[in-house]
Amino acid sequence: MGFTNNLVMRTRAPTPVSRPPFCRSHGSVRVSRLVVAVFGSKDSSSGGSSKDVPATRDAEMSGIVFQPFQEVQAQLSVLDDIMDNAGVPGPTTMAAASLARMDYEGGLEAAINEQINVEYTMSYIYHSLAAFMDRDNVGLPGFAAYFKASSDEERHHANLLMAQQTRRGGRVKLKTIHAPESEYASEARGEALWSLELALGLEKLNFGKLRELHAVATEAGDAQVTHFLEDYLLHEQAKDVKKAADLVSRARRAGPGLGVFELDLLLQREYGYGLEGGDGNGAGAAAGA
Ligand SMILES: [Fe+2]
Ligand SMILES: [Fe+2]
Repeated sequence: MGFTNNLVMRTRAPTPVSRPPFCRSHGSVRVSRLVVAVFGSKDSSSGGSSKDVPATRDAEMSGIVFQPFQEVQAQLSVLDDIMDNAGVPGPTTMAAASLARMDYEGGLEAAINEQINVEYTMSYIYHSLAAFMDRDNVGLPGFAAYFKASSDEERHHANLLMAQQTRRGGRVKLKTIHAPESEYASEARGEALWSLELALGLEKLNFGKLRELHAVATEAGDAQVTHFLEDYLLHEQAKDVKKAADLVSRARRAGPGLGVFELDLLLQREYGYGLEGGDGNGAGAAAGA
């Protein structure tokens, strides 16, 4: 007997269900004994206990409003539906539908998958920028470390969203990631200032995407998702926008040439040296974003 059978036998409701019992092959007597053990019985001939008192009378006597064993029937019947719809229980059935899923709107599930793609795309662009800055003929290892840390941070955001998706019984569907540019040289602005302005634009774009996702969750009336977005992503994103704007201002103030060189030293102190994030002398990685 597999795990699935055990689950159903222990949690089956005492009230009659229109569908035939899921584990008929184990005998109704055995099942009913287990049900009585968990939920009690309404049949006074079965021995009688305080659990035998009808729900309404029980409520009148005790004043208790929440009747967990009556109210849980709806959720138990959802579990039954999952078994019945998928046919024969077993590993395939377990993978076919979430048992944890409850009031999770399909449009919101799809919107979270889209945001996962946004975060991965951001991560990919920052990784590309990091590789560009790490070139020997560009020579900005502080910028490379900064963009590598930014790339890691965006991937972390994608991971948070993936965990959120599975937490609610949704399915993570990863989509194609748009290939980023490989060249970020700009004669007019210089690669340092141009890359920081690009990063600021992307962070603001992402902030807008997250607020759109929050609006979808609000529309669905899903307080758990809005809370998750507010606590783990939206506030952090606002800080990322401010940080990117600060860097653009500093790059503009510092100017090209030596100004960019000084700014790179400053980024090295904060993020480390180059794609590998060390201190430039082969010592271990510095702190991330
Ligand atoms: Fe992000
Ligand atoms: Fe970000």
